[in-house]
Amino acid sequence: MDKKLRIDLQRVPKHVAIIMDGNGRWAKGKGMSRVFGHRNALTAVRESVETAAQIGVEAITLYAFSTENWKRPKLEVDALMSLLINSLKKELPTFQKNGVAVNAIGNIENLPQKAQKALSDVILQTKTNTTIILTLALSYGSREEIVNAIKNISKKVVNKELNLEEIDEKTINNHLYTFNLPEVDLMIRTSGEHRISNFLLWQMAYAELYFTDILWPDFRKEHFYDAIIDYQNRERRFGKTSEQITE
Ligand code: IPE
Ligand code: IPE
Ligand code: MG
Repeated sequence: MDKKLRIDLQRVPKHVAIIMDGNGRWAKGKGMSRVFGHRNALTAVRESVETAAQIGVEAITLYAFSTENWKRPKLEVDALMSLLINSLKKELPTFQKNGVAVNAIGNIENLPQKAQKALSDVILQTKTNTTIILTLALSYGSREEIVNAIKNISKKVVNKELNLEEIDEKTINNHLYTFNLPEVDLMIRTSGEHRISNFLLWQMAYAELYFTDILWPDFRKEHFYDAIIDYQNRERRFGKTSEQITE
């Protein structure tokens, strides 16, 4: 049976986050340089975003570059930045066709000027699209994000714009880079690694985690469907009992 038909369109995750991992190993397996792997990752991005939009996912967040990835060899970092700039320009027509509004989270000021410009251009140009929000996590680290949130909240308390007693989970949410996004329902990580690598720690508190051995450049529509089907076969209890959920 066609995998797409097995998806219950009434119970699609609102927000899917993906740790796109395995580009380096994919390239190495072909006797090529790591950068070759990054260059071949775009099809997987396009298919994931397109499929998510088609089945009604409201938000998809892609981990593209972590705060820790700055520690990689300069050659690789530079290649990743130029790829980002070129891909943003190249993908604009696809974003428009699929109703994709582009968004970015992370320490964006740390990106090269050209990348910041390409990013703000595409964000502006896709601003009125409403099918899906595509958030690119760039120079993103969850701990950095939380530190940043705490600083901003503290400033408001010091300036008496905010009462200490008023601080609650919503306050924290509103000060994270993801303030405008729903909670993560499903997190997918490719390449067989079973870790979070400093991605959306707060936002994933109750996410369903899905791991696949597929390397990111090989990730296609059918693999995305597999993750959604797996998600739909789980019972999300949020601390309650199974009986309470099925009642
Ligand atoms: C993911 O692939 C892309 C980025 C982290 C930018 P990797 O480059 O981490 O590939 P592996 O994990 O070394 O195979
Ligand atoms: C996580 O992948 C970051 C991105 C996918 C952008 P890494 O390959 O950098 O993570 P680790 O080093 O395996 O934890
Ligand atoms: Mg990796």
